[in-house]
Amino acid sequence: MNTLNNHFFAERISHDVAGIRISAIKEMAILSAGMGNVASLTWGLPSFETPEYIRKGVIQRLQQDPDIGKYTLPDGLKDLREIVAKQHSAETGIAVDADDQVMITAGNMQGLNTLFQIITNPGDEIILTDPCFASHIQQIRLCACSPRFWPLDEARHWDLDIERLPELINAKTKAIVIVTPSNPTGKIFRKDELIRLGEIARQHKLMILIDNPYHHFTYENKDLYYNLASNQDFFDHIIYCFSFSKSYAMSGWRLGYMVLPDHLKEQSLKVHDANMICAPRISQVAGIIALKEKSNHIAEFEAVLSKRRELICQRLAEVPHVFEYHKPEGAYYVFPKIVADHTNAYDFSIRLLNEAKVALTPGSAFGPSGEHHVRMAYCVPEDVINLAFDRIQAYFK
Ligand SMILES: Cc1ncc(COP(=O)(O)O)c(C=O)c1O
Repeated sequence: MNTLNNHFFAERISHDVAGIRISAIKEMAILSAGMGNVASLTWGLPSFETPEYIRKGVIQRLQQDPDIGKYTLPDGLKDLREIVAKQHSAETGIAVDADDQVMITAGNMQGLNTLFQIITNPGDEIILTDPCFASHIQQIRLCACSPRFWPLDEARHWDLDIERLPELINAKTKAIVIVTPSNPTGKIFRKDELIRLGEIARQHKLMILIDNPYHHFTYENKDLYYNLASNQDFFDHIIYCFSFSKSYAMSGWRLGYMVLPDHLKEQSLKVHDANMICAPRISQVAGIIALKEKSNHIAEFEAVLSKRRELICQRLAEVPHVFEYHKPEGAYYVFPKIVADHTNAYDFSIRLLNEAKVALTPGSAFGPSGEHHVRMAYCVPEDVINLAFDRIQAYFK
């Protein structure tokens, strides 16, 4: 295409879209896919296969269910919503209504997108922990809103800094997004801090969006995990989003659910209907099988991840001249500080990719506090972790 045409089309691109970049996670993944033979710790895509009982169950349904290829209603199959309601009350002790308070989504990204569309007007602000999950920043900007960064306390291993929260709230603030265990730091936020967060949100009439892909991966720290959605006091303020992507190794199926107050569910029906009609029915069927049948795959995934966590920490400990790290408490990320000579995390990551064939995600992608850090995803096989660190060791000899 010639420059004249490019210019012509560039003028027709929305400012919100033109103003964002693809997340650095995907940028690094795309760059490394183009290079070949890269040891990649960049993408939080687990190496696990979707468990066999789910795949087999879907094959059977594909053969026997004449409706398998059809739309569902915008909030998803009733069977799935009912199992979700049961699952949610078993996990949180809070009873929810499958019809009025459960929404099936095409994954947490799509669920959050729906929520941002529902609760914001252009110019509004959403509070994100800093560092936060990179894509939340872009989602908010795509709604012509601004992320308001809430710096986490690095000295306390990226814990919530509740004292700083009230000063970030103003008339435009609509919600706070929470991910625990955290992506990118692996921190599990503590119960007392989360309850204080709930109280502040209630006082200022803010929503709390809990984006929860990782609560099954808390290793020896199970007791630290607290689900704020299990607190009835905050029910009207909380939207709980669960993703099948990680615990069920179903990232490509695009499936999740939201538990939300009735009046928001009503609004979300309109947004789903207008944007995508419904989550793919075949994935919803897979979700029913996933939740209905007993399986110990989550414990197995966690055991494998636990070994990978030990390995990556051991390998990080061997390069104290390159990285300083804290052992992550949950999820499958570690967020070390770069202590080797560098200018910024982005240039450091690009240099490592081009010169050592190791892909990491620059910490600056996760918010300003992430500068001078990198995120490493240890959901990949041990030989990939070892290869990445062999190369890092050789490069920084
Ligand atoms: C915090 C967080 N939210 C959402 C997602 C994506 O979830 P889903 O696949 O359900 O859209 C991820 C994936 O890495 C994530 O880490």
